[in-house]
Order: sequence, then C-alpha cells, then structure tokens
Amino acid sequence: MERTFVMVKPDGVQRNLVGDIVARFESKGFKLAGAKLMQISQNLAETHYGEHSDKPFFGELVDFITSGPVFAMVWEGENVIATARKMMGATNPQDADVATIRGDFGLTVGKNVIHGSDSEESAKREIELFFLNEELVDYQKNQDTWVY
Ligand code: PPS
Repeated sequence: MERTFVMVKPDGVQRNLVGDIVARFESKGFKLAGAKLMQISQNLAETHYGEHSDKPFFGELVDFITSGPVFAMVWEGENVIATARKMMGATNPQDADVATIRGDFGLTVGKNVIHGSDSEESAKREIELFFLNEELVDYQKNQDTWVY
C-alpha cells in the first residue's frame, strides 16, 4: 500500500488546525502509519527543501518551517500521494479550491498550512528523512474492509 509524508506547518499548528487536518485524512479512509510533533532543525529544513535552494524564497521558507513546531505524519492507502495533494489544494492558497485544506485555511503562499510529498520518490525520501523505521506502525484496521 502506498505511503506519503504530510506535515502541518508551524502556522497550522499555531492556528489549532492539526485536529481538523487529521480528521480529513481519517474520514477519507486513509490509515495513519506514524505521527509526531517536532521542531525542525536548520539542517533538516535545508535538506528537506534542498531542491529549492536556488529559489529567491528559500531563506524565507527555511525560516518559516523552523519558526515553531510542525506535526509530521505518514499516511497510507491507495493512491494516497496524489489524493493527499488534491486534498491540500494548490500551493498558493489564493488558487486553491474551496473544500481543500489550503483553500479553506490559507491566504498566502508563504504560510500555506501544509506540506505533502509530490511523487513516489519524494514520499520515500521525506519519510526516511523525518521518521525512523521503528516510528512507523504496520497494523490492520477494521475499517479497511469497508473502505476497499
Ligand atoms: S517551484 O518554484 O514551483 O519549484 O516551487 P513550489 O513547488 O511552488 O514551492 C516549493 C516550496 O516552497 C514554498 N513556496 C514559498 N514559500 C515562501 N514564499 C514563497 N513565495 C513561496 N513559493 C513557494 C511552497 O509552499 C513549497 O513548499 P511546500 O512545503 O512543498 O508547500
């Protein structure tokens, strides 16, 4: 079953959006494989966003993601990488559809509430970057037979 990395950014944590965001993924039918509240170090932020190091907003992005705790999660389910991105909405909340997370909760691209892996490769890389193997749990859920 596919897994993806999803993270409520510092603005989402400060604005008490963690519960709502977790509820959306649970209600959709996805299964939580791991989760933790954590403070991202400068080093982890620069590694995570490494592919954007030449962008003009890189410094701002690293400062923002390290400005307070984030809620890091691994979600599991059929096509979860692409579906999570749909549930998040467009990167710029001003372009995000209503009923998406950024469409409902965000106003600016610099504080867009949530991050989610954009491909299988980045999901694998980001899960390994943020979670130890033993922090991820493999388990059966009764709901699964009603979802699939
Ligand atoms: S790009 O240029 O298309 O590769 O960038 P994009 O994929 O849209 O965004 C990469 C991450 O940078 C964040 N971002 C920004 N942060 C601050 N200011 C500005 N202007 C800005 N533009 C993009 C964006 O939210 C992406 O981070 P994640 O965590 O993936 O959402």
